[in-house]
Amino acid sequence: MRIDIITVLPELLKSPFEASILQRAIQANLVNVHFHNLRDYTTDKRKSVDDTQFGGGAGMVMTIAPIDNCISKLKAERDYDEVIYMTPDGETLNQSTANHISLKKNIIILCGHYKGVDQRVRDYFITKEISIGDYVLSGGELGAAVLCDAIIRLIPGVLGNETSALTDSFQDNMLAPPIYTKPREYKGMTVPEVLCSGNFPEIDKWREEQAYKRTQQRRPDLLKD
Ligand code: ADE
Repeated sequence: MRIDIITVLPELLKSPFEASILQRAIQANLVNVHFHNLRDYTTDKRKSVDDTQFGGGAGMVMTIAPIDNCISKLKAERDYDEVIYMTPDGETLNQSTANHISLKKNIIILCGHYKGVDQRVRDYFITKEISIGDYVLSGGELGAAVLCDAIIRLIPGVLGNETSALTDSFQDNMLAPPIYTKPREYKGMTVPEVLCSGNFPEIDKWREEQAYKRTQQRRPDLLKD
């Protein structure tokens, strides 16, 4: 998979890709991530990427030309399956969307800033708009990092144990059950007997029951569809 991220703040974005699972996925060539500084696609001396709104109003709007220059250059080099715009008014990211995007070959992610982008960018270049939640961030970069983490970990071979992404919370519309590790007893706090029993059918049953209980208590909405 190849991910091209267009941003005015590449320095804000890079560190999540330089550690742990994302770094290993990149080193193993399971994913290629490229950062594009939008200012490199401007044509004026000031390298401006934004301007005032038509019709008046507070806040600057990202202009179409540098975004067009960058996206067109990338599209001339290869086909893209999706051009994603990170925005608080996009569809809220969930596991199902992450699963779908993780199957794509080439994607572009555009990070918004200021008031957002000129609507014509959204109308003519963007194929998908994603929000990471009902709150407003200073820009799309942290959202893009969240989206990339959610999709990269799903690429086959990225996680050591391939089953571990399948048993994540949300994969079957269910939260994950409680987990424990050694020691078996800590200051009087114990691990449920069944997990130490070696009886795997019983363990599976316990985990399913716990997952259901936790989902019912914390996210009953997940059980509705
Ligand atoms: N940019 C600003 N807020 C955002 C959000 N909640 N999700 C994605 N991109 C954003």
